Amino acid sequence: MTTSPASTTPSLIATLPGHFYTDPGIFRQEQERIFESLWYCAVRGSDLDRPGAYRTVQAGRESVLVTRTRTGELRAFLNICRHRGARLCTEPAGQVRRSLQCPYHAWTYDLDGRLIAAPNLVQMPDIDRTEYGLVRVALREWLGYAWICLADEPPSFEETVIGAAVERLGSAEAIGRYETEGLALGRRISYDVAANWKLIVENFMECYHCATIHPELTDVLPEFADGLAAQCYVGHGAEFSKEAQGFTVDGSAGFGRLPGVDDDQDRRYYAVTVKPQVFVNLVPDHVIVHRMFPLAVDRTVVECDWLYAPGVVASGADLDKSVELFHRVNTQDFEACERTQPAMASRAYRKGGVLVPAERHIGAFHSWVTGRLSHPAADGGGGQTKLTSARSRSGSSTNSHSGTA
Ligand code: FES
Ligand SMILES: [Fe+2]
Repeated sequence: MTTSPASTTPSLIATLPGHFYTDPGIFRQEQERIFESLWYCAVRGSDLDRPGAYRTVQAGRESVLVTRTRTGELRAFLNICRHRGARLCTEPAGQVRRSLQCPYHAWTYDLDGRLIAAPNLVQMPDIDRTEYGLVRVALREWLGYAWICLADEPPSFEETVIGAAVERLGSAEAIGRYETEGLALGRRISYDVAANWKLIVENFMECYHCATIHPELTDVLPEFADGLAAQCYVGHGAEFSKEAQGFTVDGSAGFGRLPGVDDDQDRRYYAVTVKPQVFVNLVPDHVIVHRMFPLAVDRTVVECDWLYAPGVVASGADLDKSVELFHRVNTQDFEACERTQPAMASRAYRKGGVLVPAERHIGAFHSWVTGRLSHPAADGGGGQTKLTSARSRSGSSTNSHSGTA
């Protein structure tokens, strides 16, 4: 006897239980096994526009310092002095001439991290200045951002980062055509969101909410109003409405198409989630990149960059209508996440909630998270195995206003 799938597949499947969003112990495990083990998008390279420029970012439990060297390369280090462990740079960003000096006892490091000076250093000739240099952190550049990895053996960047774009868009060339690395920063807005980072990812992964909370977005992308399967095919981009001249808050014209974007990509919106903390949104005339910085179990800072052709930014063009569309989407989404966060601690959510069929792929994200947490150690090599298996579970069943991997 055969049974039809409809009669055996329940409409609803379980989410993670509430404590996954409120328990500091779970968050600590996530810091160790996710944010300190995988590639983590830290800073935009152009923010470090000259030698000696630096930024500090929180990655998991670590403060990481990213610098531009005298020869123009980016370097990342733990932001910790090798003497007695003082935090080396206390500001989020700054500029030095040629060295970084610890404010405690003045140990001094060059921009490649070597110890170059310290009070009475000549009286300690046995000190190896490289051994007592700053601790290096792995760094790769992609899309114009510095991606860092705190793992001793980072997972494959090609598989875990670029692979997310390939899985979503069908090829690395598809994202390459936007030439994001050469775009100029038109606007940056930082959102301090009182919600667990997973609520933000989950929200980005589904469009069941789009018709309810995103009127401006569904005006431009009408298929999002249907709420499901908007991007369930690899390579599918949501088409602009006939009335929309551009991806702007009122559908008015945007800017000229980026030169590499092809006809198939024109008048379409694509998005990629690079787990664990990046969303990339592609439209013909600009690219929007979200970087999440999970700071506590119930607090996540999201830094959102709007990137345009350099000529558009240099011309002083008015970006407001272009930026306003996704700024509203962000605000609408983050308010929804903040409304959900307190309920995670309620007895009503002890066993979690449910996913409707249009949100089922979020289940693959939950499997990925729990798979990472059950992983024995924060070593990137084994994590890669986990990533691959979680990927194969998620398949290509992506749909959302992001269409995530
Ligand atoms: S802790 Fe940095 S110089 Fe002493
Ligand atoms: Fe949304």
